[in-house]
Amino acid sequence: MLLAVLCCLLWSFQTSAGHFPRACVSSKNLMEKECCPPWSGDGSPCGQLSGRGSCQNILLSNAPLGPQFPFTGVDDRESWPSIFYNRTCQCSGNFMGFNCGSCKFGFWGPNCTERRLLVRRSIFDLSVPEKDKFLAYLTLAKHTISSDYVIPTGTYGQMKNGSAPMFSDINIYDLFVWIHYYVSMDALLGGSKIWKDIDFAHEAPGFLPWHRLFLLRWEQEIQKITGDENFTIPYWDWRDAEKCDICTDEYMGAQHPANPNLLSPASFFSSWQIICSRLEEYNSHQTLCNGTSEGPLQRNPGNHDKSRTPRLPSSADVEFSLLGSGTWGLEIQ
Ligand SMILES: *[C@@H]1O[C@H](CO)[C@@H](O)[C@H](O)[C@H]1NC(C)=O
Ligand SMILES: *[C@@H]1O[C@H](CO)[C@@H](O)[C@H](O)[C@H]1NC(C)=O
Ligand SMILES: *[C@@H]1O[C@H](CO)[C@@H](O)[C@H](O)[C@H]1NC(C)=O
Ligand SMILES: *[C@@H]1O[C@H](CO)[C@@H](O)[C@H](O)[C@H]1NC(C)=O
Ligand SMILES: *[C@@H]1O[C@H](CO)[C@@H](O)[C@H](O)[C@H]1NC(C)=O
Repeated sequence: MLLAVLCCLLWSFQTSAGHFPRACVSSKNLMEKECCPPWSGDGSPCGQLSGRGSCQNILLSNAPLGPQFPFTGVDDRESWPSIFYNRTCQCSGNFMGFNCGSCKFGFWGPNCTERRLLVRRSIFDLSVPEKDKFLAYLTLAKHTISSDYVIPTGTYGQMKNGSAPMFSDINIYDLFVWIHYYVSMDALLGGSKIWKDIDFAHEAPGFLPWHRLFLLRWEQEIQKITGDENFTIPYWDWRDAEKCDICTDEYMGAQHPANPNLLSPASFFSSWQIICSRLEEYNSHQTLCNGTSEGPLQRNPGNHDKSRTPRLPSSADVEFSLLGSGTWGLEIQ
């Protein structure tokens, strides 16, 4: 587990999501730059016949980028998603999704008109059966190939500007690991050149909104595959914790007695495989993580930059942030 307390710096980029609808990765889609798949309810692009949405040109903000990234036209994530698509579904009303087939967060029902409030609970407040159900959902996600999404395994240039698509299947759990990798990976500048000073989702104002959307989408995918429309991801209240108190075999897994980077053999997660961990290797090949397994899950809660993050935030730190004097976020991977 990488534990990082991230402090807000003055960085700002267009956010990139990085998941590709399976229905939009043919060379035809990529050459035409159009991603307006049919909604299964009526077979029309974006559910247009049912008034769900329509296929529209993407309009990007003309706001100039900051000086932090002194390049243009070298990274597929710039002005996302315009390198891949310039037309996508624009959904109306409470409809949402790549084909307007789902509802905006908080809305349910066939016409997305039913409002429902879901509440996230502290993981320590779950009963044992509730906690075990959560772990079973994670297992199901790790074993279920996404029917809706695939990941790119090469850059747009490596795909010969869309004429030679490179995409792979991925399971629902790893899809989100991959998205998180993609938004924060280094920029590949070609040859052996890499720009490391870039991250579209961390250490900047984008941190909270990006991760909020990320978790909402993750919840939505778990709701879909489990049929549990009321699923919410439990949270860990780390205020004032002296150490990682969910890093036990009952919860997210204790440390391996012999190797601090691995999980205890008794942990539920010790049989899991990790993906997207070999960042230097991808950089040296100027390629993307392709989602293949890279060995057992690695996590070391004690292994972080203690000069930047000497301890978990206290309640007082959180109060200070909420008063508007700064923005703190905490992330566990
Ligand atoms: C979108 O991209 C296609 C393919 O490059 C191009 O023909 C079309 O003019 C573009 N449309 C807009 C609105 O930029
Ligand atoms: C959903 O909307 C359609 C079209 O407006 C309507 O015919 C149908 O009765 C609505 N269904 C529900 C459950 O509200
Ligand atoms: C891809 O597009 C770029 C910019 O338009 C062009 O320079 C390059 O030759 C194209 N590459 C291929 C393989 O078509
Ligand atoms: C979800 O919660 C609602 C009430 O908030 C309930 O009516 C519904 O049956 C629940 N669904 C499931 C699958 O448990
Ligand atoms: C996927 O990536 C790994 C690690 O970078 C590499 O060893 C492997 O050859 C790649 N597989 C494919 C099918 O490209």
